[in-house]
Amino acid sequence: MTADILLTGAQGQLGWELQRRALAAGLTVDASDREDLDITDAGSVRARLAAVRPALVVNAAAYTAVDKAESDREAAFAVNRDGPANLARACAEHGIPLIHVSTDYVFDGSRPGAYGEDDPVAPLGVYGSSKFAGEEAVRAACPQHVILRTAWVYGVHGHNFVKTMLRLGRERDSLRVVDDQHGCPTFAGDLADAVLEIAARLRTGDVPAEGWGTFHCTGSGHTSWCGFAREIFGQVASRGDRVPEVQGIASSDYPTPARRPANSVLDCSRLAHVYGIRLRDWRPALAEMLDATLAQNGD
Ligand SMILES: NC(=O)c1ccc[n+]([C@@H]2O[C@H](COP(=O)([O-])OP(=O)(O)OC[C@H]3O[C@@H](n4cnc5c(N)ncnc54)[C@H](OP(=O)(O)O)[C@@H]3O)[C@@H](O)[C@H]2O)c1
Repeated sequence: MTADILLTGAQGQLGWELQRRALAAGLTVDASDREDLDITDAGSVRARLAAVRPALVVNAAAYTAVDKAESDREAAFAVNRDGPANLARACAEHGIPLIHVSTDYVFDGSRPGAYGEDDPVAPLGVYGSSKFAGEEAVRAACPQHVILRTAWVYGVHGHNFVKTMLRLGRERDSLRVVDDQHGCPTFAGDLADAVLEIAARLRTGDVPAEGWGTFHCTGSGHTSWCGFAREIFGQVASRGDRVPEVQGIASSDYPTPARRPANSVLDCSRLAHVYGIRLRDWRPALAEMLDATLAQNGD
């Protein structure tokens, strides 16, 4: 068996979009989720790579439950550190590239302005710590890697903030949403397109100078969770549907097990400079997601 891409986490938000879009582009994809390939199992990872002999690996698998991770540290590190380490070692053995996805939550949010790739990391919680440990494992084991840090991901498939807002908006007349955390909403479909564009370059050996390493990759523009909610309901209202009133609150009024950065806006200019990739503004991307989600009424 051979494949253009070995994809892990194929049933996640990003994995689902990657699979769909890769197949539409005529690529052969060996897509697996946890049941088919548990990335924490080093033996299975090595055997799968040896059997499939892909041109490259894309790791979209992750432990993404930010709050749950606080009391589930071992599991978060197993998936987010040891999983990427297993993939990176196997990729290095076969001499193939690895595209790995990481997070804005490696930063503590204290920086004014957007974070660059080389800014110091200081995760506030277990999820961010485990994801940074995964980045380090990939850097150490596999020289041919591209790590894409993304943020605030939402897609048509899977659970996310947009779908939660749509559900709560149907149930309630008013919502209180955190207004003092700022970040970059990222449509999983746009992120998948970026991954596939990079994958195409890596597969054909058309790697630009400075093409390996760590890149930030989010939707353009930024907002707060409250701003995100208001935009969702603004777009829903323009379709003629009833929407709730949205009230901004402080994080201190909405305590969660995990602390989150006040500012996790990422500067994505390195990706634009090296690969010529810049994701569109988050608002039209949201409109595309809402079109698809409301049409299938699957929120
Ligand atoms: N979601 C966000 O807002 C966000 C923000 C910043 C960065 N990211 C990063 O973006 C990437 C994609 O995130 P996403 O939102 O698509 O995540 P997601 O929807 O939670 O999908 C992750 C997938 O990984 C699978 N998985 C978990 N443990 C696994 C294991 N041991 N072996 C194989 N598969 C396993 C999950 O399966 P189960 O459902 O069975 O567990 C799930 O299908 C991740 O690297 C994430 O850290 C996400």
